[in-house]
Amino acid sequence: MKTREKKKLLTPDLDINEKGHLTIAGRDAVALAEKYKTALFVMNVERFRENCAIYRRTMKECFGPDALPLFASKSLCFTGLYQLVDECGLGTDLVSPGEIYTAFHAGFPMQKAYFHGNNKTDADIAYAMDCGVGTFVVDNDEELEAISYIATQRRRKQPILLRITPGIDPHTHKAVVTGSVDSKFGQAIATGQAFSFTEKALSLPGLVLKGFHCHIGSQIFESEPFCQAASIMLHFIADVRRRFGYTAEQLNLGGGFGVRYVESQPSIDIAASIRQVAAQVKRCCQELALPCPAILMEPGRSLVADTVTTLYTVGSVKEIPGVKNYISVDGGMTDNPRYALYGSEYTLLNATKAAEEADFICSVGGRCCESGDLIQENVALARPTRGDILAVFTTGAYNYAMASNYNRIPRPAILLLDKEKEILAVRRETYEDLCRCDMPLT
Ligand code: LLP
Repeated sequence: MKTREKKKLLTPDLDINEKGHLTIAGRDAVALAEKYKTALFVMNVERFRENCAIYRRTMKECFGPDALPLFASKSLCFTGLYQLVDECGLGTDLVSPGEIYTAFHAGFPMQKAYFHGNNKTDADIAYAMDCGVGTFVVDNDEELEAISYIATQRRRKQPILLRITPGIDPHTHKAVVTGSVDSKFGQAIATGQAFSFTEKALSLPGLVLKGFHCHIGSQIFESEPFCQAASIMLHFIADVRRRFGYTAEQLNLGGGFGVRYVESQPSIDIAASIRQVAAQVKRCCQELALPCPAILMEPGRSLVADTVTTLYTVGSVKEIPGVKNYISVDGGMTDNPRYALYGSEYTLLNATKAAEEADFICSVGGRCCESGDLIQENVALARPTRGDILAVFTTGAYNYAMASNYNRIPRPAILLLDKEKEILAVRRETYEDLCRCDMPLT
């Protein structure tokens, strides 16, 4: 076996068997593709548990018993996942009534749910309260007033956090920066709006202000921006304490730790990164003589991305002399729009010929009627032929969650591999599913 290919496998649960096929958690990927058809998301549940355990263990160790990681549902959302998230002892961040519905009907303990979003309608707010969502993360004044009004009508005291923009540039893709002053999210410290927002939250009825939230961006590899954000937020909390005599009980530092999609990217030691942030939190609290708030974090990508591999079947292999080679697969931007949207990098492998030399340079296209429907360009694969299974690694985050039915392509199934079991957690969409909302014109 070529060491080059072995390195491309990225995580230790991926390997190559005696047939030269890729294996995922010990299962032959080609056999899985045959049994469950493609395109198929294959999730290694044990790896997800391990990722959750690292956050949970390290956060408790660093910040004490009240610390809690919240799984960011926007990265991946389906009913069965909430059972796992709950089993792993995590809370969850929900960003829409659709995500609330999914978590609620999965039986997730909703007091451990945090409701996000920068435009919660009155109906969303009422629905979240009906489902018993524990905490609302409030983005703006209008929303604050609406939550106060609806909670008061229901004679309820709604716990809230306020979303604050700390004003940080985390050096990541501009589409996923969220903590700078110029942002559609939250209220900025720099403009003074974060203070008036806090004052208002303290004065309105029906609300219990628990503390503050910030989120600086996604796919961030260094700990430094997180340390900076923690420091800015703790200074803000100390200022609020001086001005209003209010001491925050909770500080939610958001999500954002990066994930290794390709060999050239670093692999983050999440525990070490959390410890660095914790050291900064402790230092700041000491300097500011501030009681340390309970720390929450909202990882999405770093919990799920590297637990999933997408399997496709190769259809055409097109060599355009003097130009380039294309292969087409039975999926594409409909199940993974991240290359089309952000030019995101991925590692690909011909799972049928995993031990063979990767010397065929090609671009991998999907089946949409759109030139931009590409999974990746200029990748090296063992020369594929029609029927080969193509694996794309690290597709757990923001793939299924961002999938669409463009060109009326059904969304793939999600298969869970859990110890000896294979569980079909999400079935493949059918053509009937695609027409479910269509109404006859007569
Ligand atoms: N908390 C908040 C408030 C967020 O907005 C996000 C992500 C997270 C937590 C989770 O961040 P993570 O740990 O997953 O980096 N679609 C883009 C990513 C958008 C991220 C949006 N917010 C992508 O595919 O790269």
